[in-house]
Amino acid sequence: MDAGVNTYWLGPIYKSPMIEGGYDISDFNEVDPLFGDMDDFKTLMDETKKRDMHVILDFVPNHTSDQHEWFQKSIKKEDPYTDYYIWRDGKLLPDGNLTYPNNWLSIFGGRAWTWNEERGQYYFHQFIKHQPDLNYRNNFVRQDVKKAMKFWLDLGVDGFRVDAVNHLVEDKALRDEPYKEGKYGSENYDDLIHLYTRDQNETYDVIYEFRRFLEDYRRNSLDKHDRIMITEAYTDINKLMLYYTNGTEFGSHLPFNFLLMDDATIDSNAADYVSIIRSWVDNMPNGHWLNWVGGNHDNNRIATRMGDELVDAFYMLIMLLPGTAVVYQGEEIGQQNNLLRSDQIKDHNNIKGGIVIVRDPPRGPFLWDDSENAGFTKAKIPWEPIHPSYWESNLKTQTSSKQKTHYQVFKSIAKLRSQSTIQRGYLNTYVISKWVFAFSRELPGFETYIIVINVGSERELVLLTDTMPLLPELLVVNISSTNSEYEEGDRVTTKLTIHDRWKPLVLRPKASVVLIPLYNETLPDEPSTNKPIKS
Ligand code: GLC
Repeated sequence: MDAGVNTYWLGPIYKSPMIEGGYDISDFNEVDPLFGDMDDFKTLMDETKKRDMHVILDFVPNHTSDQHEWFQKSIKKEDPYTDYYIWRDGKLLPDGNLTYPNNWLSIFGGRAWTWNEERGQYYFHQFIKHQPDLNYRNNFVRQDVKKAMKFWLDLGVDGFRVDAVNHLVEDKALRDEPYKEGKYGSENYDDLIHLYTRDQNETYDVIYEFRRFLEDYRRNSLDKHDRIMITEAYTDINKLMLYYTNGTEFGSHLPFNFLLMDDATIDSNAADYVSIIRSWVDNMPNGHWLNWVGGNHDNNRIATRMGDELVDAFYMLIMLLPGTAVVYQGEEIGQQNNLLRSDQIKDHNNIKGGIVIVRDPPRGPFLWDDSENAGFTKAKIPWEPIHPSYWESNLKTQTSSKQKTHYQVFKSIAKLRSQSTIQRGYLNTYVISKWVFAFSRELPGFETYIIVINVGSERELVLLTDTMPLLPELLVVNISSTNSEYEEGDRVTTKLTIHDRWKPLVLRPKASVVLIPLYNETLPDEPSTNKPIKS
């Protein structure tokens, strides 16, 4: 709460064989014993509500575990479960053998079809073979999935982060997918053009149906609060926008915006950042709400992928651009990925072009303090190793440090989010130079904020008037990154002056600041003897 967080998203807590990090659910209505039991969950809910916070559950509608009762009954063709999954006969080869129904591949490597001896058919799985895909053309499946959501809504959860939504529906005719040029016959997922296994039109209908269900739930509830749906889809921007709405129907409240996680890289320059920002803002249908994702359990942490020096700039982007900020645990203190031995790796599921894309490194536990296991668990060995730097850098040390820390910057930025300008203000973006960009948040009658970020490797003199001519001469530093040379209250000018005391903004490599323009103050009269200062 101290960090300004009012809602948290719990990774999958359902009963699961845990072959795929809990994304292989064997019972939607049970808590896995690894995390406790239903009473523990109820206590968590009570404590959450006491703190006036909200909880969102990860929800995985695309597939279940192969241990789920529905799948076990489907194998046996027990109705109504016979068609709960996507079963197909094998294709007969000229030599009399059977082969896969078509050329579809699994996102996590290999074929997307696995033979089931007992049923004598193949079943389809977008992910690993232990995660059979549910069949969304079956009405009973849709009813049962909504029933599972209702179960948790009745327990008081505030909504869902809905997993892997663009994989929900596949082509009915099971057409082969075309290969990319020169890749004919490849078994590499990225070599197919996924015309028939991703982003199908019927997928949006399922999401709109989920939304109608959530709206009905709200209407029938006593408190009438919205129940939120956040959706996860790695796809292109136009398809993402359809999750919000197709113009007549509403879907996801927040389709995750991964642009700052995926498209912003160490190579990105100022113009790239501005175009990343604009691409979501300018494509979003009117009247909808934005969001910015900093990281998650599937991708490298900010400090690892962008460098420790850019962590505070990412806080400013994620939390001061308009909309909801999605912060992965540990990012508040700029945690690094774990460097793991091969015997410490658990996640062998995600195979791309024959190489395992290990997702354990960003999954290290939160570093609370300098006690054993960083205060995360009393168990001797935590589920993932504790980052070895925990004794030196953790929430406790970063909170009390006399020297400015990531967490202190994070907190100041989080606090700023309560300002009307940040909540409701307009956004303007500016490319200032090859490596420096800025954005402003403005709301008539309220404070204006200008955020300036240097993503380059050199110290930069920033003359803001060149791109923002309407700014006054003076600005005051409101928040500055740990690596900047400014403190709160320092004043900078928007242009070169002849006064030694008044200097324009200078940003060290990867440094960033939040500035407030001082509209009612001007520089004193210019003394004629002084020469202009140099950068
Ligand atoms: C989502 C999850 C990921 C999981 C996959 C399959 O992308 O974030 O962790 O492996 O879905 O369920």
